[in-house]
Amino acid sequence: MKGIVFTEFLEMVEEKYGYEAVDRIIRQSKVPNDGAYTATGTYPSSEMHALLTTLCNAEQLSGDDVLTAFGDHLFRVFLKNYPWLITASKDSFQLLESVEGTIHVDVLKLYPDAELPRFQTTRLDEHTLEMIYQSDRRMSSLAVGLIMATARHFQEQITIETESLESTGKSVRFLIKK
Ligand code: HEM
Repeated sequence: MKGIVFTEFLEMVEEKYGYEAVDRIIRQSKVPNDGAYTATGTYPSSEMHALLTTLCNAEQLSGDDVLTAFGDHLFRVFLKNYPWLITASKDSFQLLESVEGTIHVDVLKLYPDAELPRFQTTRLDEHTLEMIYQSDRRMSSLAVGLIMATARHFQEQITIETESLESTGKSVRFLIKK
């Protein structure tokens, strides 16, 4: 998993809970190198899950809620760092349909060792987009936060229905309506 995910996760924790919380979570998670991540480095996703679990236990939060909030944070970072990937679309459905074939393809050119989810999108009608998430990292709640932030960016009101396609959380279907 790319370092930007770690540096931005810790940045979000600092904004919401303060520097002491970051320090405590790094120590309690027992991640290597005292949590000294660099944005362009690559680290095991198990370290991300360790940091997330420690934060959730310390602050009594649900992992899904934290990942969804993190999706919102990450969208703002992506908009700042890669504006052209976002402004190329004219609405949320167009952007979401371009994640698999364009956005994440460009991410892979920038970071060849990025570990990305797979998305399959189908426009069911003018107001409904089906998006199927598949990833061994089981971070579909992060996708929910990114989808909600995408809609907000385009000033659209959407609802997201979520359905697990298997019990492991590796495959999830979103029904996005606007
Ligand atoms: C400009 C827009 C975007 C950029 C630059 C971007 C970039 C990235 C990067 C750098 C990662 C980390 C890869 C790694 O850790 O190795 C990532 C992961 C991820 N992206 Fe995107 N992304 C964008 C939009 C989106 C959107 C709109 C969605 C949701 C529909 C999405 C869903 C995800 C998810 C869920 C992951 C976590 C990894 C996983 O679940 O396997 N991304 N993306």
